[in-house]
Amino acid sequence: MILDAVSYVSFPGEQNMNPSAPAGPESVTISFRPDGKKIRATRGATVLEAASQAGITLQSSCGGRGACGKCRIRLISPPSAPSDAELRHFDEAELEQGWRLACQVQVETEAVVEIPPSSRMMREKISLQGLGREVEVEPGLSKIFLRLPPPSLSDQRADLARLLDSLGGDVPPPSNLSLLQDLPDRMRRQDFNVTVVLSDGEIVEAESGDTAAQLYGMAFDIGTTTIVGYLTRLLDGAEVAVSAAINPQVQFGDDVVSRISFVSTDEEGLTRLQEKVVGAVNEIIQEACREGGIDATRIYELTVVGNTCMTHLFLGIDPTSLATMPYVPVNAAPRTVEARELGIRINPRGRVHVLPNIAGFVGADAVGVIIASGLEENRGLRVAVDIGTNGEVIVAKDDRLLACSTAAGPAFEGARISQGMRAASGAIDQVTLIESGSGSMTEPRLQIHTIDDAPARGICGSGLVDAVAVLRKIGVITSTGQMLPAKSAPPSASPFLERLESKDGKLRFVLAGPEQSAGGEPICLTSRDVRELQLAKGAICAGMLILLEEISAKPEEVEELLLAGAFGSYIRRESALAIGMLPAIPPEKIRPVGNAAGLGAKLALVSGKMRRLAKEVAGRVEYVELSERAEFHQRFADAMILEPVSGARQADR
Ligand code: FES
Repeated sequence: MILDAVSYVSFPGEQNMNPSAPAGPESVTISFRPDGKKIRATRGATVLEAASQAGITLQSSCGGRGACGKCRIRLISPPSAPSDAELRHFDEAELEQGWRLACQVQVETEAVVEIPPSSRMMREKISLQGLGREVEVEPGLSKIFLRLPPPSLSDQRADLARLLDSLGGDVPPPSNLSLLQDLPDRMRRQDFNVTVVLSDGEIVEAESGDTAAQLYGMAFDIGTTTIVGYLTRLLDGAEVAVSAAINPQVQFGDDVVSRISFVSTDEEGLTRLQEKVVGAVNEIIQEACREGGIDATRIYELTVVGNTCMTHLFLGIDPTSLATMPYVPVNAAPRTVEARELGIRINPRGRVHVLPNIAGFVGADAVGVIIASGLEENRGLRVAVDIGTNGEVIVAKDDRLLACSTAAGPAFEGARISQGMRAASGAIDQVTLIESGSGSMTEPRLQIHTIDDAPARGICGSGLVDAVAVLRKIGVITSTGQMLPAKSAPPSASPFLERLESKDGKLRFVLAGPEQSAGGEPICLTSRDVRELQLAKGAICAGMLILLEEISAKPEEVEELLLAGAFGSYIRRESALAIGMLPAIPPEKIRPVGNAAGLGAKLALVSGKMRRLAKEVAGRVEYVELSERAEFHQRFADAMILEPVSGARQADR
């Protein structure tokens, strides 16, 4: 966007852009049709610049060089001789009708211009595939390039006044003293060509030259195990790069309870955990910038979601109160802080916006899931489960939104599983039972798939769910999770008995032999791994059933079940239903939606409206504390059984 040093006049019946500013000899009037806007712009400004000043953004992909031909306008008056570029883009008849290129026409006298719809820049939209949500890109941040008239003896306005005048007079002076200290150099370094960065109408930065096209932000999902950052171009919402890393806090415990315990027992605990997460965020920023070819100083804002404990630790707030009854957070409101206050390395005047939390164990990540999936929109009975180290369940029905947190543990992210790993190259992500051979000579066989078809290095969450479902089917594991020795296994297990082996007196089932594994060691599933999965899936299923009961709904009435989180994208619905991880909901109603929490952070980055919605939604959600529910423990015990949750079992509840 380009503005010039301007003043404004009013015209009867038309929108006056700034009635208080005087007209000067160096300015001319331009009126725009059909908008009905009239402005005064510096004599010699192009129509493209003047239109921008009037708040009309024209398509200009060549940057005003007359090359793209997209900034077509009709010059109603005065007549103007076509430039070479215009002669290339229009035929004689069009030129005769007044068609011109906005970037080529310089206004020297009063002008009337018509802007056709086809030349206007439409507001970009982000469409979330499968989530039924379309959001206009309308960030609170914007940039305006100003070509300021240099001071002279006849124009001795102060630098700041010169800048503010050119912005139309309704932008307040910046509150930041350091910005004022930098201003003289920034304005003079490129001959009074300067770009200002506005955040919700307030000047937050001024840069030398025209940097208007470089406006970036990053959305972060800070998980207990994984941190993901989305580098986003704020002009159109385009994703420039995505980068992820393990949350380095895992060295102090793989769940939130152990991190809180570290904070409360180590004097330096809070500082160390904050340094770890901030360090990881900075590394992700660096990597994303490298991948996108972006200078990190062109990132002006971060939005952050995470569970309540993670957002507390990120902000350096002691989360100890989350671990003791009644589990209250220190902060639930959305928070905007200076990036440098946190040590985040983006533009030094950039800001970090942390979305609101809902309760002690339902955080901003759940708010992200809600706004990304439109759960607040009253589209029937919908359930979302964000499967991470903390499994958050959200149920939406009519105008109600209910949420609970289930201590799923990190099993789905590969932690606490003997050979578990994240969903990365070499992870066993699918285990299926197939028939090999032909005719009557077929025999069941185990088929293992690894990510990238790489030699097996471990097993990730979806592989774990598959493996347990298959082992249940062939009878190697009982419904209570016990792994049977060969002598007790049913006939259906016969083709697989050679995979059962004992190590250190404990039974294990070989999923991938040494010849299939990257390290030459077999990849196995142990009874303890099965137990970890039972605990995780039992907690999620019980949480979901209790929320449904709370609104007097039955699982079969659920119109849509959204599986959020990276794990949710890979999980095979049939396997999850077979082991009773989910209540009996028809598979076609179950949909993986990827990292919906991260998408929510991204929506809050590119849309002020969505940011406001996040705040509103957080205040609306009814939090259900499972630990105070007498029935929870029974539901949990039932849900640990490795069997589909039948209609009868549901009815019993
Ligand atoms: S902006 Fe490309 S031709 Fe005018």
